[in-house]
Amino acid sequence: MSRPSLLILLVLFSSALCAAKPTPDQRAPLRLKAQEKAQIHAEMRMFLSVTQKIVAGVAANDMKAVAAAAHEAGMASAGDMPDSVRVKLPLPFKQLGHATHMAFDDLARDAESLGDANQALKQLGQALDRCVACHAIYRIETR
Ligand code: HEC
Repeated sequence: MSRPSLLILLVLFSSALCAAKPTPDQRAPLRLKAQEKAQIHAEMRMFLSVTQKIVAGVAANDMKAVAAAAHEAGMASAGDMPDSVRVKLPLPFKQLGHATHMAFDDLARDAESLGDANQALKQLGQALDRCVACHAIYRIETR
């Protein structure tokens, strides 16, 4: 059998398997109002946008831009989350969120003082570990 047709067969086979066995979503639900979900999503889009700016800054070897972008996602931005939402969030969620903001502050400080692109990428990887970990644990459920 030719390689492309083998590939197509593989894809068909694996999608048939997926269709037969939908994996249940086992992430813990955070029960929030639609408005609160929107606030969390807005913070998340800021995280993604900052990540994009850091990668672009590293690629352009513009460490000032890297530092400025990372600073946007640091602890100073953590205060954007209203207390009314914060009290509904479980402690491990808040700890992961806090660790993520701190990781961006560390990245900003080191990008500014060391100007080392590799170090910035390493620290971005550490911040992204937090994103991945939290996304694996929690989902939002609106009422
Ligand atoms: C403390 C937990 C936590 C951390 C840390 C976290 N996220 Fe999220 N993220 C969430 C939750 C919860 C959702 C919403 C999931 C849902 O709606 O079910 C989400 C959703 C998102 C979305 C979708 C937003 C939208 O408008 O649909 C993006 C993009 C995202 N996160 C990016 C990131 C990035 C990038 C990072 C790290 C720099 C990050 N997140 C770190 C918990 C987290």
